[in-house]
Amino acid sequence: MLSGEFTLVQKPSSNSETLGINIREMQVGDLERVCELEKQAFPDIRSQNNIEYEVLENSLSFAYVVEKDRSIIGYAIYWRVDTEAHLLDFAIDKNYRGKQIGSSLLNYLINDWRLKKIQEGHLETRRSNVAARNMYLKYGFEVIGVRKNYYSKEKEDAILMSIFLRRG
Ligand SMILES: CC(C)(COP(=O)(O)OP(=O)(O)OC[C@H]1O[C@@H](n2cnc3c(N)ncnc32)[C@H](O)[C@@H]1OP(=O)(O)O)[C@@H](O)C(=O)NCCC(=O)NCCS
Repeated sequence: MLSGEFTLVQKPSSNSETLGINIREMQVGDLERVCELEKQAFPDIRSQNNIEYEVLENSLSFAYVVEKDRSIIGYAIYWRVDTEAHLLDFAIDKNYRGKQIGSSLLNYLINDWRLKKIQEGHLETRRSNVAARNMYLKYGFEVIGVRKNYYSKEKEDAILMSIFLRRG
C-alpha cells in the first residue's frame, strides 16, 4: 500500500474541520503552554529553554500546535534533515485524548512531510506507550528496531518506528 506515491490515510473523523480544531505553526507566545503539555505528557521533559531553542533558533526544527476554542491542546516538533524527518515531540492534552486529535495532527505532519518531499519519518517511543505505538502503526509507521534502556528517567526501552513515504 505504501509503495510508490504515498497516499494520505485520513479518516473523515480525524479531519480538523470536523473536530473543530486548527493546526498552525508554533509561536514564541505558545511556549509556556507547550511546556505545560510537555510536563503533563512525558517524564523526561525538555526544559522551556530547550523547546525555545528548537522553535526559535534551530533551523532544522518545525513546530506546530493544535488549537481548540483558542486554547492549545497539542503540539508536535520535528527535525528535517534533507529528505528525512525525525519526530522529537508529539503530545495531546490529556483531557482531549481519544478524540482523534492526535490522528489529525499526525495526518497534518505526514502531509507536511510529503509537501516538503521528505521521504522517511523516524521516531522513538517508550515500549509501554501502547496508545502512541498504535497511532503510529495505524498511520503507516513500522517498527524497525529497539534501543535498550534508551530512556534514563523511568528507565525503559525505546521502540524505533519509521514511515517510508516513497519506496523506489
Ligand atoms: C499518543 C497520543 C498522542 C494519541 O493522541 P490521541 O489524540 O489520544 O489519539 P487518537 O484519538 O487520534 O487515536 C489514534 C489511534 O491511536 C490509538 N490509541 C489512542 N489511544 C489509545 C489507547 N488509550 N490505547 C490504545 N490505543 C490507543 C488507536 O489506534 C487510535 O485509533 P482508533 O481511534 O481508530 O482506535 C496521546 O495519547 C498522548 O498525547 N500521549 C502522551 C504523549 C505521547 O505519548 N506522545 C507520543 C510520544 S512518541
